[in-house]
Amino acid sequence: IKEQVPKDKGIDHTIAMSQEAYLFIKNRVDKYQSDIFETHLLGEKAICIVGEEAARIFYDSELFKRNGAAPKRVQKTLFGIGGVQSMDGEPHRHRKNLFMSLTDSHHQNQLSKILMDKWQSSISKWEGNKEIVLFDEAKYILCWAACNWAGVPLLESEVKERAEDFSAMVDALGAVGPRYWKGKIARSRAEEWIGKVIEDVRSGKLKVEESSALYAMAFHRELDGSQLDTKIAAVELINILRPIVAISTFITFSALALYEYPECKEKLLSGNSKDFEMFVQEVRRYYPFGPFLGARVKKDFAWNKYEFKKDMLVILDIYGTNHDSRIWEKPFEFIPERFKERNESLFDFIPQGGGDPAKGHRCPGEKITIEIMKASIDFLINKIEFEVPNQDLSYSLERIPTLPKSGFVMNNIRRKI
Ligand code: HEM
Repeated sequence: IKEQVPKDKGIDHTIAMSQEAYLFIKNRVDKYQSDIFETHLLGEKAICIVGEEAARIFYDSELFKRNGAAPKRVQKTLFGIGGVQSMDGEPHRHRKNLFMSLTDSHHQNQLSKILMDKWQSSISKWEGNKEIVLFDEAKYILCWAACNWAGVPLLESEVKERAEDFSAMVDALGAVGPRYWKGKIARSRAEEWIGKVIEDVRSGKLKVEESSALYAMAFHRELDGSQLDTKIAAVELINILRPIVAISTFITFSALALYEYPECKEKLLSGNSKDFEMFVQEVRRYYPFGPFLGARVKKDFAWNKYEFKKDMLVILDIYGTNHDSRIWEKPFEFIPERFKERNESLFDFIPQGGGDPAKGHRCPGEKITIEIMKASIDFLINKIEFEVPNQDLSYSLERIPTLPKSGFVMNNIRRKI
């Protein structure tokens, strides 16, 4: 039954991947007319897959493991070493429970409220400014709100620097050279800062609420009853703070969508919460953020007439699955209504991963992301008025991560009465 799967010609395609970025897998899937193909990345064979069925096997923890899947350079910037992303089996599930409890509906509401208050109180500051860059303001506000919510002390004067560090870790994802180094330095600085805060909580020098993320990380117990290494506790707390700051990317894309599709904005102005939900989902589907995911084969198996061998590297295309014409009608059009009546599937809409977050690696912060986006969009359309001056709002699919080039400049900001 073994059939030939299309193979990329050449010795290594790491450079092509960094150049074609979000479209690397899609370009080949289109060229070979196959939802699976073989290539070589970072010196080894890699199998790239796309689509709902591909996501379904990728999230089968009997078939795939994460340990040893992420390149070292990603661990040194985006993930951190020793965190939940590279764990498997029972230890992963135990660590993941901690993240699930810190992202439940109570925490979502708390964080959204803190955030909304901070958005509102920023208006008067902006009213005097000539213009602001939404992406930057969103980073600072989210960083302040995330730390405040998590119980991490943060002076107003530190916000900008810390926010830039969280952001630099994300920005390093597809980078080589200076952008990579910036992310690496940012991670060292953040781990040192958060590690110190955790030590202060453990020693009693810093008092913090027991329901806070900081407390939970500081006193979390491993399956064998031991406390987390300070460094790992810091990595995991950063695994909550950093992605909250990263929602600034989705907020910027939301503003772009409101601007590019005024009819959608009109609808939201008189809309209900379902309209907000549909809009947010379409932003998360349509615009590029997470590009792809890697895992290693745990044991030999066959799928789609291809034999997967133990330890092979497999890459699942997030961007391609969210634009797969087998799943989405007119995938390259922005149509929030497509979310009106959808059959729920855990594997066809995967901006933050697929499957059940409590059991596998899917992002635990998806609901938080949705709530924060809703609150921020509500703020942008109902609490302020502003103008959008001439600027370069284009974004490249050849850079990971990407963003409208101008960061979305707004001017003449007024409080809406
Ligand atoms: C994992 C995307 C926000 C915490 C992931 C994964 C993706 C993702 C693609 C990998 C899933 C996998 O490995 O199978 C995003 C995007 C976000 C976002 C695009 C929007 C900015 C958040 C938030 C939090 C969070 C707000 C926390 C409050 C995590 C954690 C993991 C994760 C801890 C690792 C889970 C695991 O390995 O089990 N996210 N995320 N993320 N995310 Fe998010």
